[in-house]
Amino acid sequence: MKTLAKERFQGKDFLSLQDFTQDELLYLIEVGRTLKEERRAGIPHPHLQGKTLGMIFTKSSTRTRVSFEVGMFQLGGHALFLSNRDIQLGRGETVADTARTLSRMVDGIMIRTYSHEEVLELAAYSSAPVINGLTDLHHPCQVLGDLMTIQEHKGRLAGLKLTYIGDGNNMAHSLLYAAKMGMQVVIASPSGYKPKAEVVASARTDAAAYGGAITIMDDPLAAAAEADVLYTDVWASMGQEEETEKRRRDFAGYQINRETLKIARRDCIVLHCLPAHREEEITAEVMDGPHSLVFEEAENRLHIEKAIMALIM
Ligand code: CP
Ligand code: NVA
Repeated sequence: MKTLAKERFQGKDFLSLQDFTQDELLYLIEVGRTLKEERRAGIPHPHLQGKTLGMIFTKSSTRTRVSFEVGMFQLGGHALFLSNRDIQLGRGETVADTARTLSRMVDGIMIRTYSHEEVLELAAYSSAPVINGLTDLHHPCQVLGDLMTIQEHKGRLAGLKLTYIGDGNNMAHSLLYAAKMGMQVVIASPSGYKPKAEVVASARTDAAAYGGAITIMDDPLAAAAEADVLYTDVWASMGQEEETEKRRRDFAGYQINRETLKIARRDCIVLHCLPAHREEEITAEVMDGPHSLVFEEAENRLHIEKAIMALIM
C-alpha cells in the first residue's frame, strides 16, 4: 500500500460516502481489489496484527457481521460481536459513555443501528475511528463494495448509468453518492417513498464537481432505459416490518423482472444488497439469471471492509 495515501485515511471515521473524495473512494476500491487478489493467491496480509474491532449491533445482520469479523481475522486482528441485548447500551448506558469506554480498549468501532444521529454521537465521543455498518439513513460500506463490483465487471465507473428501483431508503441515499464517481444515478420510487430531499440535494452538489448526475422519478420502466446497472432493495427495511402489507401494495410494479431487463442495456448487471424477498422487489428468475452478480457483490463486502479497516485503523 502507498504510505502517502494511507495517511489521508488514518484515524478517519467511515460514516457516509459524502465524507470522501472521488480519489479516496477509488483508492479504497483499489485496496479492496488488491486484498481480494492477495486472498485468492494465498498471500497473507496481516496489516492489523494485534488490533481489535468492537462491533455493536442493534439490528440483524449476515453479510456485515461476517465480513467484518472474518475480515478482521484475515488482517491478523480480532473482532468482538457486541449485541445491543448484551451490552449496557441496551440497558440505558449512554452512547457517549459507551464510546468513551470502548475506544480506550479497541482500535476501531463498527456500529449497525437505527438512528444515524446515534452513530454521529458515538463518533464524536470515540477516540477510535467509527464505521457505519448501516443506519436508517445510510449504508456506505455496502455501496463502496457495490462500486468495486461494478468496476470489476465494467472496467470503469464514470459514464455508467445506475438505476435503482424501489424504496428511497438507506440504500438509495448511499447510492446517490455514487454519482460523484461520474455516474448517472436514477432513482425510481413511488410517491411517498422518495429519497430525502436534503440527501438528494447534498449528493447533487457532490456529483456536480465530478460530472455525475442524479434523476429522481416515478416510472420504473422509463428509469431502466439503457441502464448499465439495475439495483433494488427490499420494500420493507429492518424496523418497518409492520408496514409490510401496505408496502406490498404501494410498491406493486417496482420490481426488477424480465421486462425491466429488456429495457436496460443488453450487457446490464443486476445488483441487490441482500437479503432479498424473491418475487417482491426482484424475481427469482432475474436474481439467479445471467445478469445477476448479487453473490459476487456479497463476497465483495469482505474485501471492501478489509480495505476500510486496513486504511482507517
Ligand atoms: N447487505 C447487508 O448489509 O447485509 P446484512 O444485513 O446481512 O449485513
Ligand atoms: N434497506 C435494508 C438494507 C439491508 C442491508 C434495511 O435497512 O433493512
